[in-house]
Amino acid sequence: PQKKQATQILKGQKILITAGGTREYLDPVRYIGNKSSGKMGCALAIQAQALGAEVTLIKTTTVTLPIPTGITVHTVETTSELAHKVKVEFAKHQIIIMAAAVADYQPKTRAVTKIKKKVNQSELMLTLIKTEDILAYLGHHKHQQFVVGFAAETNNLLAHAQAKLTAKKVNMIIANDVSNTAIGFDSNQNAVTLLQPNAANIQLAQADKASIAKQILTVIALKTAKQKN
Ligand code: CTP
Ligand code: CA
Repeated sequence: PQKKQATQILKGQKILITAGGTREYLDPVRYIGNKSSGKMGCALAIQAQALGAEVTLIKTTTVTLPIPTGITVHTVETTSELAHKVKVEFAKHQIIIMAAAVADYQPKTRAVTKIKKKVNQSELMLTLIKTEDILAYLGHHKHQQFVVGFAAETNNLLAHAQAKLTAKKVNMIIANDVSNTAIGFDSNQNAVTLLQPNAANIQLAQADKASIAKQILTVIALKTAKQKN
């Protein structure tokens, strides 16, 4: 019965999902990246489509998973490309889920030609500058939209996730313990806790990412339906 309800609520709803890890270039051939596989974001996109939603997926170049037809896909590489695309799509969607692992810092400069190794230099210092926090931008600029982010943590999971919920002014944080290698990043399994303002936390027990995605979307569907009444 819950699935049927979620289908009815998500039918025709436009959902924007980001997936994968960004790359920040030092020069034409080198970048700083992360271990995100994009599996959770892609699972959310697939399940959202199965529940009747109109899905736009902004994925990074690192994501190699097959995406079902019917999902509108945009591919980006860097955080600034991702930020630009998300802002273009933001107003056209009712629900936005930032599942991408976004770099927090990028090299201050991107060399035009390959950086050369210096014969008498044993250390290389890199200067990094903070990237834009895309989720915080969405949280602070949303109108009717329901904005969802993830919190990847290795320690103090709930405290850190709660701080992100408040600071980024979002409607939901999906808290993910990435210290447990059985779940999170490259795994096919996940276990998460959903945090929302002024609501009790919802714990989703370890399951495959498709099942976790469906459960997350059901909670979002029921919540956004309530908001409308
Ligand atoms: N996020 C984002 N833009 C960034 C960094 C993160 O939109 N520049 C989003 C992620 O997609 C995720 C959420 O913010 O939905 C939380 O990301 P996370 O890395 O867990 O938290 P940060 O706020 O970056 O803080 P920290 O890495 O220090 O824990
Ligand atoms: Ca981060």
